[in-house]
Amino acid sequence: MKLIDGKAVAAEIKNNLKHEVDAYRLSSGRSPHLAAILVGDNPASQAYVGNKVKSCGEVGFNSTLIRLDANTSEDALLHQIKLLNEDPDIDGFIVQLPLPDHIDEVKVTLAIDYKKDVDGFHPYNFGRMAQGLPCFLPATPYGITLLLERYNIETAGKHVVVVGRSNIVGTPISILLSRKSKTGDATVTLTHSKTKNLQSILLKADIIIAAIGIPNFIKDDMVSQGAIVIDVGINRIESESYTNGSKLVGDVDFEHVRYKASMITPVPGGVGPMTVVGLMLNTFKAAKKEVYQ
Ligand code: GUN
Repeated sequence: MKLIDGKAVAAEIKNNLKHEVDAYRLSSGRSPHLAAILVGDNPASQAYVGNKVKSCGEVGFNSTLIRLDANTSEDALLHQIKLLNEDPDIDGFIVQLPLPDHIDEVKVTLAIDYKKDVDGFHPYNFGRMAQGLPCFLPATPYGITLLLERYNIETAGKHVVVVGRSNIVGTPISILLSRKSKTGDATVTLTHSKTKNLQSILLKADIIIAAIGIPNFIKDDMVSQGAIVIDVGINRIESESYTNGSKLVGDVDFEHVRYKASMITPVPGGVGPMTVVGLMLNTFKAAKKEVYQ
């Protein structure tokens, strides 16, 4: 089994990006600028946004973190989005999800200027992605394709089984991998909670992408010998037996599946750091007006 080291690949890409950002700063006299809006105090969201802000510093971006109270109204959030849309110094911004229940995520996503939508969540970017047109790719699927490329994992003609159909991972990665492209041309099966015979479908997979948000869901008897396993899950499980009272696990039962897989991503240190890389690359493209004028 070979470990797919997302942490190392992310560090390598961020290091290269830093040099490109230095050159951009010299020629343009400014730094790329990413803003993030965090509503409430969800611990996982705070950690993710903290990593994004930290990465901005590492690659030489300016960053602005806007923290809003958990009971912020939808109108107040939409107003904040309008200010960022209109701020010429902000190249791109994200609204960290999930949002509190009283806020409509669709309305919020639609309010973001698609030219600054570096998360690639706006339906305009999503539609362009589905048609293979220049766009901001959603950060996690983008990061996964970079990992596949970096490890020379052939996808053409392979059977990829994606588990989970979320708007931000399962659905877009299944579209990307099935398109005619460098990390595409795969035959993709998108499975979900209503799928029948999941085990038999998974046993026919050359590549498994697990993005369901259920800790250790994919067991070793669901994976064929030699399959490649990409684990997108980041689940915190609590137990007094762990050093700090909790630990992070993926959607894949890593300790057992590792003996079946030919290659596998760990959690943490697999896909997670690559999501941040996807976001950094999108922000740099936004600053350079590479995707949209
Ligand atoms: N919540 C979980 N993943 C993401 C992400 O990539 N971007 C945002 N904005 N929220 C998320």
